[in-house]
Amino acid sequence: MNKAFWKEAVVYQIYPRSFKDSNGDGIGDLRGIISQLDYLKDLGVNVVWLSPVYQSPNDDNGYDISHYQAIMDEFGTIADWEEMLEEMHKRGIKLIMDLVVNHSSDEHDWFVKSRQSKDNPYRDYYIWRPGKDEREPNNWVSVFSGSAWEWDEKTGEYFLHIFSKKQPDLNWENPKLRQEIYDMMKWWLDKGIDGFRMDVINFISKVPELPDAGTERYAWGGDYFMNGPRIHEFLQEMNREVLSKYDDVMTVGEMPGVTAEEAKLYTGENRNELQMVFQFEHMDIGSGPGGKWDLAPWTLHQLRGILHKWQEGLANDGWNSLYLNNHDQPRMVSRFGDDGEHRVESAKMLATLLHTLKGTPYIYQGEEIGMTNVKFDSIDRYKDIETLNMYRDAVGQQGKSVEQVMESIYVKGRDNARTPMQWDASDNGGFTTGTPWIETNSNYTTINAELAVQDPQSIFNYYKKLIALRKRHDIMVYGDYELLLENHDSIYAYTRKLGEEVWLVILNFFKEPVKFELPAQLHHESRELIISNYEVDSKESIASVSLRPYEARVYRLQGVQ
Ligand code: NOJ
Repeated sequence: MNKAFWKEAVVYQIYPRSFKDSNGDGIGDLRGIISQLDYLKDLGVNVVWLSPVYQSPNDDNGYDISHYQAIMDEFGTIADWEEMLEEMHKRGIKLIMDLVVNHSSDEHDWFVKSRQSKDNPYRDYYIWRPGKDEREPNNWVSVFSGSAWEWDEKTGEYFLHIFSKKQPDLNWENPKLRQEIYDMMKWWLDKGIDGFRMDVINFISKVPELPDAGTERYAWGGDYFMNGPRIHEFLQEMNREVLSKYDDVMTVGEMPGVTAEEAKLYTGENRNELQMVFQFEHMDIGSGPGGKWDLAPWTLHQLRGILHKWQEGLANDGWNSLYLNNHDQPRMVSRFGDDGEHRVESAKMLATLLHTLKGTPYIYQGEEIGMTNVKFDSIDRYKDIETLNMYRDAVGQQGKSVEQVMESIYVKGRDNARTPMQWDASDNGGFTTGTPWIETNSNYTTINAELAVQDPQSIFNYYKKLIALRKRHDIMVYGDYELLLENHDSIYAYTRKLGEEVWLVILNFFKEPVKFELPAQLHHESRELIISNYEVDSKESIASVSLRPYEARVYRLQGVQ
């Protein structure tokens, strides 16, 4: 397998609105990011993925872009951005920017022109259709509830918006639009950025007929736009026209609905498309037949089954991204660990998983200090468009109870991840001196970066150690992965192997203590404890180990037969 910096990297995602406010307006900004770069350097990450900072009316917090080559006023200026990039590079941190080109804002100049008349040169930059039988052109539902089509009075046609009605889908069938996007990408690469995270990039090729999805009034049309007919052609073109012209560009494509088989096509070494994808299969566990908001229990069998499938699927070609949360998902420790009594141990156990599977780990801001989900007592305190639209639909139209809907928001809502980063125990967790755009989680007095940095036993210092280990040991990056105890109810265990070297990872996923029995094929002469989230007697035999709640251990085994 070829070596590459992006395989060896550990990425840190910044959601700028909630990271650090420098001017007291309650909104995170670029100068706030600059002020915390030493913190990131200390943590040891070497790539930052920055969620959108472009000009935007903020219908979807910057994922609705009205100018791709301008910085959002609330975040600062292009000079601030240039300084931020320079300060990152000085610290050996690369920057990947968010590329949101499945859709733009309806306030983008292209769309303003597109809606003016049917013969405007920009008309075909978007997807317009006449109505069908006095209804929308098809029955697709928007990700943010309601129809995926919006009627436009002026020209008497509908436009497609898979997300909010302020996020019209761009028409990738139009070569002129594609060229504009490639030029914009080159403009940012020429400014010195190191790559892109590509928003829902597997949505850009639609089945041209835009067929109905079944017979329901509104239904998910993903079959007709996820991994669509021209997707590989478009990505290969983008690679040829843009990415291949620069050295060492890092790319990761966000791809809901992608399978491991398809991911091989997107990330295969000789495919000239992308380097990694963000897959969603493991994010979809804990959901019932009604989708994301229909809460259901999850099991280790499900989670491990999915991660294992991806480890195997991309073992020899392609590359995995490793994540358990981001700005769209609930906090990892609340979802897959225990955000109460065993918060610290379970966060460290999950971190051990993310840094010892094969792939590139992505840390979402605050994960490294074990930030948790939030419970606001009223819908009025929530900000996320997906959450607010769903609430309106579920309570207002479907007649669901407020309690039931609030419960799903507590478990799955995107604002769980968007409460301000907790820097210290001062007001608003030190995020702002003003009033934060969304309230801070009230646990900031005990969960914050200042405390975490000082405490040698903290989650932060455990991450730091994992990241440092990864830099020293090729086996963590390139070693082959092999699953052990594949049917165990509560332990996820596996080995990594590189040449003669063998590492063993043992993770107890639950709070009940459990016995780990070493599989016979791993009998060995001696061993060395690499990292663990509890005190461990390093001389203790591991033939049979009583694992404590959420216990994680990594060993190097010598003399395995
Ligand atoms: C995925 C982004 O991560 C999410 O935040 C956004 O709402 C949608 N794509 C639409 O851009």
